Amino acid sequence: TPQQPWSQRFETALHPTIVLFNASIGFDINLIEYDLTGSQAHAQMLAKTGIISTEEGEALVNGLEQIRQEYREGKFTPGVEFEDVHFAVERRLTDLVGDTGKKLHTARSRNDQVATDVRLYLRDQIKQIQTLVREFQTALVTKADQYVDALIPGYTHLQRAQPISLAHHLLAYFEMCQRDWERLGDVYKRTNICPLGSGALAGTPHPIDRALSAKLLNFDSVGRNSLDGVSDRDFAIEFLTASSLIMAHLSRLSEEIILWSSQEFGFVSLSDKVSTGSSIMPQKKNPDVPELVRGKTGRVFGHLQALLTLIKGLPLAYNKDMQEDKEAIFDAVITTKSCLQAMTIMIAEGIEFKVPRLAAAVAEDFSNATDVADYLAAKNVPFREAYNLVGKLVKTCTSERILLKDLSLERWQEFHPLFGEDIYAAIAPQQVVAVRNSYGGTGFEQVRQQVAAAKEILKAE
Ligand code: ARG
Repeated sequence: TPQQPWSQRFETALHPTIVLFNASIGFDINLIEYDLTGSQAHAQMLAKTGIISTEEGEALVNGLEQIRQEYREGKFTPGVEFEDVHFAVERRLTDLVGDTGKKLHTARSRNDQVATDVRLYLRDQIKQIQTLVREFQTALVTKADQYVDALIPGYTHLQRAQPISLAHHLLAYFEMCQRDWERLGDVYKRTNICPLGSGALAGTPHPIDRALSAKLLNFDSVGRNSLDGVSDRDFAIEFLTASSLIMAHLSRLSEEIILWSSQEFGFVSLSDKVSTGSSIMPQKKNPDVPELVRGKTGRVFGHLQALLTLIKGLPLAYNKDMQEDKEAIFDAVITTKSCLQAMTIMIAEGIEFKVPRLAAAVAEDFSNATDVADYLAAKNVPFREAYNLVGKLVKTCTSERILLKDLSLERWQEFHPLFGEDIYAAIAPQQVVAVRNSYGGTGFEQVRQQVAAAKEILKAE
């Protein structure tokens, strides 16, 4: 068992169970590439400022690069006795380059080191997740483009409300994703600030150049307060908020797809590529993908809650509690990415909209009732009066088990003399959708413009 760098201060060794309890290497090995990159920048800065010699700086940078190679080739697999990735790398570096390796930690603490690593990691992941959001948006717009003229019932309270263009429905998710994408960009800004050089909490007496370290690591700026530098995890919480909202949006769509694919709705069918069967019921084809996405959403929400709770009672500055941030962040990253990928596949190639069934659905209900009121309102009948009259119409039709379109013109006119032959055209589903051409509405012209606008947003990248 290698001695810990801090073991000189202690009389006895750590209890073997506590070694396991204390160690983070099992998961923070995920950060190794960022740890190496951060250490290389730190070594270069130490050399440039004359804190170590140029030769020493080069030896450290090269040694760290060698560890990177060893890691990529699967030859660097430090065990739990090293406690964490930072100690494991430092130990290996000293094995490789000798005593010079012991100079790497000059003017640095694991506290500013780990804060730097997590920011470097998240910075990369934010970009990757943004790309996956874009791919999902592309799948949505591609589908929307095909279904501008297809209709689907629009719901409020899960009751039929007004028919809409299917593309309009899909583009609602495009908008959510657009905010998600922008939110990630915002989180990126506050993630891309360099804490390196904060030391343990108070800075360092060595003549370091924090701006240089930050520049070498492509950070936008240097954190202004060393105490905040080592204890801030707001950026991680913001990231978990952004990923929670991504998951919430994916989960809403998942829930709709699950409903739509049920026999009761029959609006879509999911292809064999994205469905699974039952071990006992031979007829089953289950929507496992959207169900899993809906289920995994809870995990990401949980990680957000965990991190908020983690910091709420923490005095400044670093506390070991903060080691617990990593698994939450890593799992949120993996979960969000895999859900975005699965949903992209499902929308792009796993879902078939049953257009005739959708068209029949919107023709067989009272979702055109608003349009009857609007018809009279356009003829100067006060809307509330018209609305009350249509309420009576619907009641009559319901008791006779007929639809509005089944009423004869004489009967329309018994209800109001202003009804004319054109009422039938006015309440046809296609017409009901077409006339809602207000900005952002579901009218086909509007939706065509919205599809074009969405494509422009995607192109602007
Ligand atoms: N493994 C630790 C973490 O993830 C690294 C920082 C340890 N610092 C300390 N003072 N114990 O938070």
